Amino acid sequence: MPLPDPHLFDAKAADWDSPVHVERAIAIARSIRSAVPVTGATRVIEVGAGTGLLGRALAPHVGSVLITDPSTGMLRAADEALTANGIANARTRRFDLEADPVPGERFDLAVSLMALHHVLDTDAALARLAAMLEPGGWLAVADLDAEDGSFHVDPEERAIVLPGHDRDQLGARAVAAGFVDVTFSDVWQIPKNDRVYQVFLLVARRP
Ligand SMILES: C[S@@+](CC[C@H](N)C(=O)[O-])C[C@H]1O[C@@H](n2cnc3c(N)ncnc32)[C@H](O)[C@@H]1O
Repeated sequence: MPLPDPHLFDAKAADWDSPVHVERAIAIARSIRSAVPVTGATRVIEVGAGTGLLGRALAPHVGSVLITDPSTGMLRAADEALTANGIANARTRRFDLEADPVPGERFDLAVSLMALHHVLDTDAALARLAAMLEPGGWLAVADLDAEDGSFHVDPEERAIVLPGHDRDQLGARAVAAGFVDVTFSDVWQIPKNDRVYQVFLLVARRP
């Protein structure tokens, strides 16, 4: 059987945990904890997790974390980091939000950081995130605000991403996917290409 093509992010895994990526994930984990009532029993899934920086930052404050990503290179780096940091309540699983069946287990909180714009069918992604949550569960997605398409410099990557998300449109899509109490806040800024790109945090609840 032919091996699957390497994922675009496999090659980025070894250098992903840069100081700025670590700092970003810690800041957004803090914003999520301010917005969502997490406890030592909360079951978290992180989608598009890369090396699981966000999940790792949340792990000490929740019951368990499932770190998922389609890139096996990223997941290998995540596994190494979990071992190196002695994080016992997190595990990894390969999962593509567009292509793979939704995991059989249910979660209290689904989180994501800088990954939603990598999924072209936003409506399907939101519906699948809702399907992973228990009734009363929370969604917390941090992603790029709508931009002019300049954020991704690599043409190969630019062709397979969305130019961020308009908050009003994304909020309406979250409601259409079954979420309620949708809020947005400013959580991070990315200086790049001689400009600054804004990152939002969408928080919503599955009734
Ligand atoms: C910009 S990186 C962000 C990684 C990590 N969340 C962070 O902030 O450090 C985007 C991630 O989205 C993942 N991704 C791309 N397409 C995806 C899909 N269809 N479903 C889930 N994740 C996807 C990539 O593999 C990559 O790890």
